[in-house]
Amino acid sequence: MKTIIITGVSNGLGYQLAKKALDAGHRVVGISRSIPDLKIEHIKADLTEEDGLNAIVKTIKEKYSKFDVLINCAGMLSVKPLGKVDYTETLNLFRLNVIAPLFLVSELVEIIKSNEADIVNIGSTVGSKAYEKQAAYGASKWAVRGLNQNLQLEFKNTKCRVIGFNPGGFKSNFFEKATGTENNDWSGWMNPSEIAEFILQILALPKNMEVSDINLNRK
Ligand SMILES: NC(=O)c1ccc[n+]([C@@H]2O[C@H](COP(=O)([O-])OP(=O)(O)OC[C@H]3O[C@@H](n4cnc5c(N)ncnc54)[C@H](OP(=O)(O)O)[C@@H]3O)[C@@H](O)[C@H]2O)c1
Repeated sequence: MKTIIITGVSNGLGYQLAKKALDAGHRVVGISRSIPDLKIEHIKADLTEEDGLNAIVKTIKEKYSKFDVLINCAGMLSVKPLGKVDYTETLNLFRLNVIAPLFLVSELVEIIKSNEADIVNIGSTVGSKAYEKQAAYGASKWAVRGLNQNLQLEFKNTKCRVIGFNPGGFKSNFFEKATGTENNDWSGWMNPSEIAEFILQILALPKNMEVSDINLNRK
């Protein structure tokens, strides 16, 4: 049994990761602003706020310091054409998608090293290509890949693995939250439950195998 910390646990991929991890007998500590209907331990906090991040770090150090995996899954999208990029929304997006994973790893680095824990950063296929109207989101996911490479260097002489997992489109409320428009055609979109299963399989690989950067495309 592992103790797995997952951000963005109330919805989408994070929720499915928590569910699958519970089914597999792991202990899950979830982080989000709303509380999911899962039998997990939960830290209610806003990852875009410095106070929220500090409270999360404090709680992890006090209650969950023996964790084995940190999965940075929480994220948000912005779909805005050039000329309409919103400053406040972009700031929030970078706080959530880039600064939160960086800050959590930075503050927990000594525990991560002593636990020989693994880090999974959920990026996106948008982190290695471009989409119209997604300049802010794309830039943030390119930044996550840069962060992964830096962390891989920092943890090079440890048993900690840094796994960059970059999925393409899967079924969640992610786009609706960003655009206000409901998607009526999910054909071809991936199932987050199956993606969650795959991530847990990657984590179950021997510790001397690090899946450093994986792109999971829609077919
Ligand atoms: N969906 C896709 O097609 C797709 C494709 C490629 C990559 N991704 C990436 O996959 C990851 C998960 O996406 P998803 O589609 O599962 O997203 P989602 O369904 O929108 O879920 C986002 C999660 O993040 C949490 N969250 C959002 N803002 C937060 C904040 N300020 N503080 C704390 N938690 C916050 C939400 O919880 P609360 O609202 O309760 O706080 C929720 O649990 C993201 O990193 C995304 O960029 C998604």
